[in-house]
Amino acid sequence: MNKQKEFGDYQTPNDLAVQVVYLVAGLFGLPDCVVEPTAGLGAFLIASHGEWGRACRYKGYEINDDYVHLANRRLSDLGIRLSQQDFFSADWNQVLRKEKLHRILVLGNPPWITNSEQGILGSNNLPKKANFQRLRGFDTKTGKSNFDVAEWMLIRLIEALPESGAIAMLCKTMTARKILRHFWKNEGGLESSKLFGIDAKKHFDVAVDACLFFASGKRTEDRVAAVYSSLNVDSRMTEFGLVDGSLVSDVETYMNFRELDGGSPYTWRSGVKHDASKVMEFSRWNGRFVNGLGEAVELEEDFLYPLLKSSDLGNRRTTPRKVVLVTQRRTGDDTSWIRDVAPKTWKYLEDHSDKLDSRKSSIYQNRPRFSIFGVGDYSFAPWKVALSGLYKSFTFVVVSPHNGRPVMVDDTCYSIPCKCEREAWLLCDLLNANPAQRFLWSLVFQDSKRPITVDILRRLSFINVAKMMKRLYELREFTSSGSVPLDDGHQQLSLLIEQEQNYQTERRSQSK
Ligand SMILES: C[S@@+](CC[C@H](N)C(=O)[O-])C[C@H]1O[C@@H](n2cnc3c(N)ncnc32)[C@H](O)[C@@H]1O
Repeated sequence: MNKQKEFGDYQTPNDLAVQVVYLVAGLFGLPDCVVEPTAGLGAFLIASHGEWGRACRYKGYEINDDYVHLANRRLSDLGIRLSQQDFFSADWNQVLRKEKLHRILVLGNPPWITNSEQGILGSNNLPKKANFQRLRGFDTKTGKSNFDVAEWMLIRLIEALPESGAIAMLCKTMTARKILRHFWKNEGGLESSKLFGIDAKKHFDVAVDACLFFASGKRTEDRVAAVYSSLNVDSRMTEFGLVDGSLVSDVETYMNFRELDGGSPYTWRSGVKHDASKVMEFSRWNGRFVNGLGEAVELEEDFLYPLLKSSDLGNRRTTPRKVVLVTQRRTGDDTSWIRDVAPKTWKYLEDHSDKLDSRKSSIYQNRPRFSIFGVGDYSFAPWKVALSGLYKSFTFVVVSPHNGRPVMVDDTCYSIPCKCEREAWLLCDLLNANPAQRFLWSLVFQDSKRPITVDILRRLSFINVAKMMKRLYELREFTSSGSVPLDDGHQQLSLLIEQEQNYQTERRSQSK
């Protein structure tokens, strides 16, 4: 077993510990006692002693016996002793509230590992199940879902921290955000919450967004945290927080564009899903189709559609280089008729049934043979406005028909079907306009693996963007002619148009 991974064992370099302590001293002042719950070789205790000397007390805990011995040798001159202690069996209320030490500073760097990574390693270094189900409102209700061990540890420590205390811990940025969200949703804000970016590649040789997470033990009404690009109070960038129950990454920008948070009369769709790109996607070559296995085959054109993938849309490429085999018009449609109308296609599917019939996802079970997902009438709309969900960019593009055929996008892309070119350009213009872009960016966290989600896209009100861009009249032309389902958003649109008729004097050209 990989012990370093199991225990999230990445010792903090001394110079980083010194920088952190210097910053924390400025934020918190002199503590009564510094507590390092997973102290390793004691870098933070040594750096703290360098800053505060004998003016405060120090306590350190660590699970690894060898580290306890080594650290105690380094620390003995300073009069500090580390205790061997498993975090999960310690009584942190007792440790942090004992002896009426009010200005407790919990400082350190807990293990950076998730419970599922530990599962893979066969590790037991986890909270006992009973303990961890006890945590109110904790996002992980069962031992199955993925959570960071550091997340659990820090929530536990903050719960036990006196009001006059503070916590300063190195952790993944995502972990710090989840901890704050936990308190924001369940208890309230933590005074002085701050995230200071660190270069985890440089210090720990790991490619992850990480920070020093600082917060006081005092609860507040405000549910916000300031974000700094480095361990320097002059590097303040933004403030994220919980607004109306959801996380926003940039509170100030969000508040400036809040009126765009209104839901959409259009429905965002994800693209075609087949989980068999080597079989279902082809390039054209000398009048034949070449699949991902390198086989050149002859197929009828009937079920083949031009395809744009995330890599195309992400790079603003809108001329399809591939085609995809679309076996159904709607999810669940019968596929057996392909045998009669396109025998070569059916034979091709049967010849590759080993790959298609063994697709792992349960969505293909008890479905017609060779089923696909993410199809409906919307997939066959001639025009679309689309973007890739894999890139960290809100670059929307217009997808036009190719050689008279509607173009499909893959399941990592999002799109809105449009009836005509003008509608697609209008929506694309609205989405790429500054207010929509700023609104969308105020919602996403760039360090997330896939920051762009359909839930975020859905929040943008086309109506209010169109209103802001003075293009509501153009939008009305399309939304009132039946391409958009009548729903609350639609009724809202009619109302807004009535109001706007009174003051709009000029109408922008519709041509593109
Ligand atoms: C990321 S390292 C950081 C060590 C030290 N805090 C530092 O900053 O250098 C995490 C430490 O947590 C210790 N650790 C892991 N699981 C623990 C547990 N259940 N209880 C106490 N310490 C633990 C590891 O042995 C390791 O020394």
